[in-house]
Amino acid sequence: MVNYKDLGLVNTREMFAKAMKGGYAIPAFNFNNMEQLQAIIQACSETESPVILQVSKGARQYANQTLLRYMAQGAVEYAKEIGGGRAIPICLHLDHGDSFETCKSCIEYGFSSVMIDGSHYPFQENIELTKRVVDFAHQYDVTVEGELGQLAGVEDDVKADKHVFTQPEEVQAFLAGTGVDSLAIAIGTSHGAYKFKPGTDPKIRLDILKEIEEKIPGFPIVLHGSSSVPQDLVKIINENGGKLKNAIGISEEQLREAAKSAVCKINIDSDGRLAMTAAIRKVFNEKPAEFDPRKYLGPARDALKELYKHKVINVLGSAGHAFDK
Ligand code: G3H
Ligand code: 13P
Ligand code: ZN
Repeated sequence: MVNYKDLGLVNTREMFAKAMKGGYAIPAFNFNNMEQLQAIIQACSETESPVILQVSKGARQYANQTLLRYMAQGAVEYAKEIGGGRAIPICLHLDHGDSFETCKSCIEYGFSSVMIDGSHYPFQENIELTKRVVDFAHQYDVTVEGELGQLAGVEDDVKADKHVFTQPEEVQAFLAGTGVDSLAIAIGTSHGAYKFKPGTDPKIRLDILKEIEEKIPGFPIVLHGSSSVPQDLVKIINENGGKLKNAIGISEEQLREAAKSAVCKINIDSDGRLAMTAAIRKVFNEKPAEFDPRKYLGPARDALKELYKHKVINVLGSAGHAFDK
């Protein structure tokens, strides 16, 4: 058992309190490998943004849990190096935890925050599972994110075929029954690069968000599935041999609006995947003789870093808030 505090990580409590007060959201960027981690730390350190490093169950299997634990510890040291001895606040968070056992294992490996995604269970079962995780996690001061409502698309091992928007009248009972520290809600976002059908109105339900906020004033809300699917990246991919058709994301204006409200955490994974893929496809297409991985992973890392900087400065508004009192 290693406690996250010994790794120099922080939980989400103070991050969210400050984000709530400051009218911005903390970026939650997923990572699976070194280049993604470097890009996240470089972008957030240079812009002085707090950050949540997000690891899915799949990422844990891909990268190995022991390596991940040391990578997160390394990320803190790396952030110190960039920040001239002072690291930005870094949280290591399990994304879409599917069971008590997965959450427990992550906590024992040094995660400072976990999500238990019981959103596909009946309400009462979701409460019971979430409460069990909260009771365990809080013994170690690890914060817990729960979810109510279902996003369309595939949530890691958790599948939902259509949107089931969060019911505002259920949120108070969920919070009281579980003791969670933050709540992920479904208001029309979804995972992946195909969030809206062409010809339909690509809007999320900020009206439901408002209703939820009124039920639980000051409580940190989380938005999953918040990639914007930048069309310039889709174009580069398609011009270089890719085949992404009708890929549509959430507008940055709507996300900016949400970030000013009680939304304290915004999850972005797909946009990073698009940025890396676009950069790698371009190198492969333009320099077919290239076979040194650093020659395509390097540009991919640079493109990722630029994307993350843009997010924290222009969309989430978290830049410059790392060392707020
Ligand atoms: O919400 C899902 C995240 O984008 C993680 O995806 O399960 O393929 O690692 P993954
Ligand atoms: P995107 O697929 O929109 O990037 O969402 C990521 C996410 O919600 C991770 O939990
Ligand atoms: Zn998600």
